[in-house]
Amino acid sequence: MKARNIELTITDDSEGAARRAAELLAEAARAGHEIALTGGSTPGRAYELAAELEPDWSKAGVWWGDERCVPPDDDRSNFGLARRMLLDRLETQPARIHRIHGEDPPDAAAASYDRELRATTLDLVLLGLGPDGHVASLFPNAPGLFETERLAIPAEAKLDPFVERVTMTPPALRSARHIVLLVTGESKADAVAAALAGPPDPAVPGSLIRSASGATIAILDQAAASRLRD
Ligand code: 6PG
Repeated sequence: MKARNIELTITDDSEGAARRAAELLAEAARAGHEIALTGGSTPGRAYELAAELEPDWSKAGVWWGDERCVPPDDDRSNFGLARRMLLDRLETQPARIHRIHGEDPPDAAAASYDRELRATTLDLVLLGLGPDGHVASLFPNAPGLFETERLAIPAEAKLDPFVERVTMTPPALRSARHIVLLVTGESKADAVAAALAGPPDPAVPGSLIRSASGATIAILDQAAASRLRD
């Protein structure tokens, strides 16, 4: 298996992948790290397991790599997902919860998140990967992929749910000490091969995101890894 500047962990199935991601989240929480969470359908199980492994997040800070521009109690909210699957299951809440305000106008929510991000260093950023190769809300060939100054920006959704987004930019994501990509399922196999093993290409946003000075880790199940070859 070959990947460009990425450490690979390949598990038998999606449950094993969720468990490995949960272990990293729990360790980071225990260490009082600044942790950015992701949305989508993949991370819920990892959040649930992370809460079981470490129910005390009182030293940790929690962030989001991206948010859908909806109120926090909307089913599509990435904060809402984390609240249901992680935060509500903890015995002790994180010391710092840095929610992206999806209910605010996207420009204002992005500007305020940009300011918050400037005062921190992210230790662990968890990301999913879309079947089109997107990460956070950085979609193929989006202008935000070329951002060099801002750390959070408004972004247009190119996949369901089609609501405006606020997303961390490549400079924000690359500044993280650890980037952890959690990807499962056969439907992601082509995107995994392009993002992990292919050349850097704005048509595949995941191919552009590697930690600048730390580690990038991909946790895949066998189905997602099935098109990575030597
Ligand atoms: C979002 C995400 C997004 C997600 C991928 C993978 O808000 O939708 O943060 O980047 O991680 O789309 O999503 P799935 O896990 O649903 O495939």
